[in-house]
Amino acid sequence: MAPILEISDLKERARRRVPKMFFDYADSGSWTESTYQANESDFAKIKLRQRIAVDMTNRTLATKMIGQDVSMPVALAPTGLTGMQHADGEILAAQAAEEFGVPFTLSTMSICSIEAVAAKTTKPFWFQLYVMKDRDFINSLIDRAKNAGCSALVLTFDLQILGQRHKDLRNGLSAPPKFTPKHIWQMATRPMWCMKMLTTPNRTFGNIVGHAKGVGDLSSLSSWTAEQFDPRLSWDDIEWIKKQWGGPLILKGILDKEDARHAVDSGCDAIIVSNHGGRQLDGAPSSIEILPEIVDEVGDKVEIHIDGGIRSGQDVLKAICLGAKGTYIGRPFLYGLGAGGKQGVTQSLEILQKELDTTMALCGRRDLNTLNRDNLYSINGVK
Ligand code: FNR
Repeated sequence: MAPILEISDLKERARRRVPKMFFDYADSGSWTESTYQANESDFAKIKLRQRIAVDMTNRTLATKMIGQDVSMPVALAPTGLTGMQHADGEILAAQAAEEFGVPFTLSTMSICSIEAVAAKTTKPFWFQLYVMKDRDFINSLIDRAKNAGCSALVLTFDLQILGQRHKDLRNGLSAPPKFTPKHIWQMATRPMWCMKMLTTPNRTFGNIVGHAKGVGDLSSLSSWTAEQFDPRLSWDDIEWIKKQWGGPLILKGILDKEDARHAVDSGCDAIIVSNHGGRQLDGAPSSIEILPEIVDEVGDKVEIHIDGGIRSGQDVLKAICLGAKGTYIGRPFLYGLGAGGKQGVTQSLEILQKELDTTMALCGRRDLNTLNRDNLYSINGVK
């Protein structure tokens, strides 16, 4: 087998191990995928300042995100259907993150439930919330996250309606699954995936099915979801969510400085500069392009995180130089999961850690917390 040296190696291995409809679900963006692609390619426009003859002993990547210790500022982003990349996917990813000392964020749309992940981990994880119209259900989800000991709530505000996900439509990805001969063939050619999936009890949307009113099984989920995402969501909603939750709150989906100011006014502890990994508004700018603008606007008032397009430790370092206190990876850990379960997620983190450490040293810094815009050149106005 080819050696795994970079995230792209994990991606190619996952492509061979995960049924196409689920691999494509992770690997695609909305519509023309222009924002998805820009998320990755805009990082390459930022150039690093090489420094020499600087003492590079005793280096550290350790820092804090929302006051919590992290071994490096890279959290696992919330991703729906993670348990379809690999059986028990959310549990395995949470365990890998826990061992590595970085935060894991469980999606509302996860396969393994909050309770299933909590039962198989020993440290607190973060929970991501989508706000549905059924506010009683949302309150109960928040209570379940509290009972499970979750240490932060990531509130996603950029999905009042679903972006146009053409690849999923073409692949016929639906809940409940409508298996055609094509799907059965896709799964039959991935026997390890099938075997593991058939032997796990976690194969449905564990936070929702059996919990939300009218969703007793998978067959009712699709219409419920389509009906439940709330197009009337507003800044005022943060108030009651904050009250119900009572802990650290991270607002996800900021891509505009006016929205960043609203987020600050709402009193959240951190914001995530994010375009949902290029899965919502196609044509929006990349997260890294917008980051400096948001930092200049509200960086002295709120902790700023970023996700979208991070594929290497270099990308993490560039985001930190531009003012982010934390980053998140979505697809990189999903590729790892698909490629090799828990071990694959660990590999994805190890790859980023090694690249981050090497890049930091070659930039002449020993502590990630000392990096700033001076470590970059200004190219194409990105800095
Ligand atoms: C996501 N994302 C996401 N975000 C969220 O708040 N709740 C969710 O359930 C999901 N689901 C989801 C599924 C998949 C397959 C992907 C790839 C992404 C968005 C995610 O949290 C994050 O913003 C992006 O993944 C970051 O971009 P990269 O790292 O994937 O490029």
